Amino acid sequence: MNEIMVGELREFKEGDYRVLKVEDFEFGIYRQGDRLFAYENQCPHDGGPVCQGKVIPRVEEVLGPDQKSRGLRFSERRNIVCPWHGWEFDLESGRHCGDPKYRLRPVNVRLEDNRVYVKLPA
Ligand code: FES
Repeated sequence: MNEIMVGELREFKEGDYRVLKVEDFEFGIYRQGDRLFAYENQCPHDGGPVCQGKVIPRVEEVLGPDQKSRGLRFSERRNIVCPWHGWEFDLESGRHCGDPKYRLRPVNVRLEDNRVYVKLPA
């Protein structure tokens, strides 16, 4: 596996993402604080460019002690929304929000000396 430097941390704005292509390999890198997450830009549903979709706060249902709904609220967690058919994936795990057997293919990303490195598949 080749590891390459794809930029400095300051180039990845907090809460934002970038889609990069190295040779034929396309992937998205997401920044949450000082944490980075990266996924191959191919949706497990039908191959769409999932990393080019919007990133939105997750909506959670608030349950009372009687387990009845008290309404909806935005969570701290965020989802990546595939632009083709709207499937949503948890940004931090890559798992589909409704069916965890579907997940984005993770890309190994790491930070060293404020530089971002990615391992490319062989
Ligand atoms: S290809 Fe991503 S939701 Fe269908």
